[in-house]
Formats: sequence, structure tokens, C-alpha cells
Amino acid sequence: MTETAIVILAAGKGTRMKSRLPKVHHAIAGQPLLHHVVATARGLGPERLVLVLGPDMAEVGAALPQGSPEVEIAEQTKRLGTGHALLMAEPALADFSGDVVVLYGDVPLITGETLRALLARRQSSGAALVVLAFEPEDSAAYGRLVLGSDGSLECIVERLDADEATAAITLCNSGIMAVSGAHLFGLLKALDNNNAKGEYYLTDIVAAARGLGLDCVHAMASEEEVMGINDRVQLAEAEAALQGRLRRAAMENGATLIDPATTWFSSDTVLGEDVIVGPNTVFGPGVRVADNVEIRAFCHLEGAEVSSGAIIGPYARLRPGAEIGEGARVGNFVEVKKARVEKGAKINHLSYIGDARVGAGANIGAGTITCNYDGYAKSLSDIGAGAFIGSNSALVAPVVIGDGAVVAAGSVITRDVAADAIAVARGKQSEYAGAAAKRRTKLESGRKK
Ligand code: UD1
Ligand code: MG
Repeated sequence: MTETAIVILAAGKGTRMKSRLPKVHHAIAGQPLLHHVVATARGLGPERLVLVLGPDMAEVGAALPQGSPEVEIAEQTKRLGTGHALLMAEPALADFSGDVVVLYGDVPLITGETLRALLARRQSSGAALVVLAFEPEDSAAYGRLVLGSDGSLECIVERLDADEATAAITLCNSGIMAVSGAHLFGLLKALDNNNAKGEYYLTDIVAAARGLGLDCVHAMASEEEVMGINDRVQLAEAEAALQGRLRRAAMENGATLIDPATTWFSSDTVLGEDVIVGPNTVFGPGVRVADNVEIRAFCHLEGAEVSSGAIIGPYARLRPGAEIGEGARVGNFVEVKKARVEKGAKINHLSYIGDARVGAGANIGAGTITCNYDGYAKSLSDIGAGAFIGSNSALVAPVVIGDGAVVAAGSVITRDVAADAIAVARGKQSEYAGAAAKRRTKLESGRKK
């Protein structure tokens, strides 16, 4: 089988984002644009993966997700155009002669399926290169594909360099292509920058290949897959398109989304079967939900794991490190952070549980707060199995509440409570018979004067 290398071009400035953040670090579905492209590239199982970055983009290289193959970084010191950018990958691919797929760091919605078809076309056609084309609704800024009478690809003409007849062509260049590595770098070196932008255009390798008698062809993609992100309006459009895919996939995999349009996923969200998700729920990065879980309306989850049969919300917030056990309940206005809530435990109303363990079957009353932070350090609250914490209690960590212990409502617990003990830590109640009536009489007579 022909080996594959993938080169991702991402040295462009992204000026239209009007942002201090590099363009490819803007996120959709909870993940930077570039990371989507890297994940899709790795999914193809290539032998090599090269990323072309600008000189001021070290942070982009440093933040790449781990995986295989490792990303080799090539630097384009001067942004002299897409053809020049791809040439920067030559040292990394010096010993490589398989197929090279070119992707763009700001075209995040391309699918593995389309890329596999592109590679298959390269191999079955025997053409030196295959360009991925599409028919955009508005072809304004794209390069045009000029086809010969036999349907093969003759050249690509950039919009700025196109005459009226060429500009009228609706078949456009996505920028993505598969090129035989045996020819690629030789072709790139022959490019000139004799064009409207004074840049070395990657698109010119088509004409260069034809000049050498090599065949070029095209394959098709949907506009959604090849949409490029240049500004924040397109960023929002890509987010919408990706959410559409994620919602569809969640439903196909057996989750009920009561209102798909208001359910927001991260690309790594994992939902089991027979999960029900209520309206207006947001899944940030790193959430795994097992089978038969109900997530009621208006929940926000990130970095959390929910075991089967649990019921979350409405209006619950699960923050990173929340582990919700089988059949546990986390109700309205409850925030859980870095805490293990074990099997069948209940935290039904108005609580903050952070840096804690809530043992199996424990019941946490409304308004319970784990006081985990003293302004300097975080400390743990360990609540035993079957413990009962009365409403409006403050557990001042570090503190251990033993199995089966009871904490009286309104307590401020500053010392450990033994298993099966009852702890009461609040002011004693006093009562003065008739005092309210006397007070009323006194105040009312005062007002008459
Ligand atoms: C390019 C194509 C155009 C195609 C369009 C699709 C060329 C000459 N034109 O135009 O035919 O329709 O994409 O979106 O290729 N980059 C570098 N270094 C550079 C310049 C660009 O790494 O010096 C990278 C950018 O980061 C980006 C990609 O190459 O990821 C495309 O560059 P961009 O400037 O957006 O090209 P377009 O003008 O959109
Ligand atoms: Mg572009």
C-alpha cells in the first residue's frame, strides 16, 4: 500500500479574526480548530504528519494534542504563499515518496471519509494529483478549476487572476489535495510568483504537472466540509455545522435529545445508550456519560464522569473531576467539583460539593456547603457511606464524617464526626413564654403617643 504523509498548512496570520489568539487556536465544539484537523489527519493512519507554522506561532506547536504519528513542525519564516508554505515541509519529508495530502489548519470540518476517497482516487486514477473541489453558494474568493474536454483538470486560476469567463466557473478549489510525493517538491520548486498577489501559489502546481505530461483530476466535497474560517462569523457557522453533526451522532448512538438545537456538545463528549438530555444543556470538554442517565434541562457539565442510572439536574453544574456514581442524584442548583459522589448518594438541592467524597447512599441536605478553601489551600471533606447531612450545614475541610453519622441541620462542622454519631454544632434554642405579645403591646402603645 502507498504510504501517506499529511501536511497541514497553518502559517497564515488570520488577521480577519481581529484577535491576539492565533486563528487556529479559536475553538469550535470545545477544541481548537487545528486540533480538529490534527485528529482527522491522525484518523487516516498516515505514516507522517507535518505542520507548517509561522515564526511567531511557537505556542501553537507547544499546545498540540498527543497522539500518533507525532506532529513534525516546519517553519515558514516568511509568508510567501501556499506553494512556498508546502515547500517548507520538504526537509521533514526528504526520504518520503508516498502520497502527500495537503490540509489547511483553518478548514476543520473535513471528514476522514472524504479524505480516504480523495486518496483512493489518487491511486486508482494514476493521476499525479487530485484536487478536492466543491460548488460553493458564493464562489467569490475561491480559485477556479479549469477542466479539459475529457473532464481532467487543466489548471486552477485564482479569483484575482481570472478573466471574466474563468471567473464564471462555479467549480472551486477547496485547497485540499492529494499529490504523489514522487513529483511534489520538484513541482513546487518550479513555481514562480508572477501573479496578482506576488505569492507562490500552490494551485499553480496543476499547470506545472500538466506541463510535464502528468495527469491531474478532481474529486468533490460538500461546501460544509471544506468551509474555511477567516472571521468570527464563519467561526460561528462552523460551530453550528459541527454541533449539527455531533447532535445527529449522539441521537444515532441511542441518546434522546429533547431539544437538539439547544444541546451543545464538545467533540469528545461520550454519551451512552438511553441517555436523555433535556433542553439547554452544555457539555464542555471531557464529559463521559454512561447508559440510562437522565440529564434534565439547564445543566452545565465539563470534565465530569456520570455513571449509569444517575439523574442530574435540572440546573446542575458538574465541574472537572466530578465523578457521579451509579444511580446517584445531583439536583437543582448543585455544583460538584473534584468530588466522587458514590452509588445512590443524593445531593438534591442548592449545594456546593468540592474536593470531597460523598459515600454510597449518603444524603446531603439542601444548602450544604463543603468549605474546601481557606484562601490558601484546598482541603478534603470525606463523607461516609449512609451519612445524613442536615440542611444548611457547612463542613469546614479538612473533615471526616464517619459512615452512618448524622449532622444536625444548620451545623458548622469543624471537627471530625465519628461513625454513627450525631453532631450538632449550632446555637442552642431558647424560648421566652409570652415575650412576643409583651413586645407587641409595648411597641404599639409607643406608636399611639
Ligand atoms: C487558497 C487557494 C484558493 C482556494 C482557497 C480555499 C492558493 C493560492 N489559493 O486561497 O485557490 O480556493 O485557499 O480556501 O492556494 N498559508 C501558509 N503560508 C502562506 C500562506 C498561506 O501557511 O504563506 C496557509 C494558511 O494558514 C491557510 C492556507 O495556507 O491555512 C490557505 O491560505 P489562505 O491565505 O487562506 O489562501 P486563500 O487566499 O484563501
Ligand atoms: Mg483562506
